[in-house]
Amino acid sequence: MSNLSTACIFLSLLSGCADSSQPPSLPDCVWCGAQDAPDVLASTMRIASQEEPGTRLHLSGILVDKSNQPIAGALIYAYHTDATGTYRKEGNETSNGNRHGTLRGWLKTGNDGTFTIDTIQPAPYPDHTEPAHIHITVKPKGQPEIPVHPLWFKGDPRLTQEMEEAIQLPANCTPILTLIPSEEGGLKSSFRLMARSTMP
Ligand SMILES: [Fe+2]
Repeated sequence: MSNLSTACIFLSLLSGCADSSQPPSLPDCVWCGAQDAPDVLASTMRIASQEEPGTRLHLSGILVDKSNQPIAGALIYAYHTDATGTYRKEGNETSNGNRHGTLRGWLKTGNDGTFTIDTIQPAPYPDHTEPAHIHITVKPKGQPEIPVHPLWFKGDPRLTQEMEEAIQLPANCTPILTLIPSEEGGLKSSFRLMARSTMP
């Protein structure tokens, strides 16, 4: 055993010396992200920095329950691909950031259930037929985190009629966002997000 390995084992016992040859420890749940949320959250999340390449996206949402009533104080987690269709990593990811990449964020819905997301428009996976999408999970106060239907974009050529017809959500909570030019530059959309799990 090399002196370096010996030193690392010794330091691990003292302070958790990271071994870069070991895979990162990951949560059992591949889709979740609530466990990684910062302690303090606003009702706005910025996923992509201003330097991130891509078309800026300004999304305004209201989270509702199955009776269409706003849900206040719920944690929302979202992540998506970059402008090349990749879940890009920067190398400093922790927990499910190692699966979801660097473009992810968290917020807590306001008293009226509203929230905003500031990011870039994700690209579809290269060489795949799946539409471009934003993954979203919802964790109402005191309840488990659930995955909800990913957000899609109207006009995406990968979005088939069959896919649209398979969506089991009320028409006013469609996950297919219509994007229009934003006064701030880029594109914007408003939508109602229903806290209905996609798990069977
Ligand atoms: Fe995805």
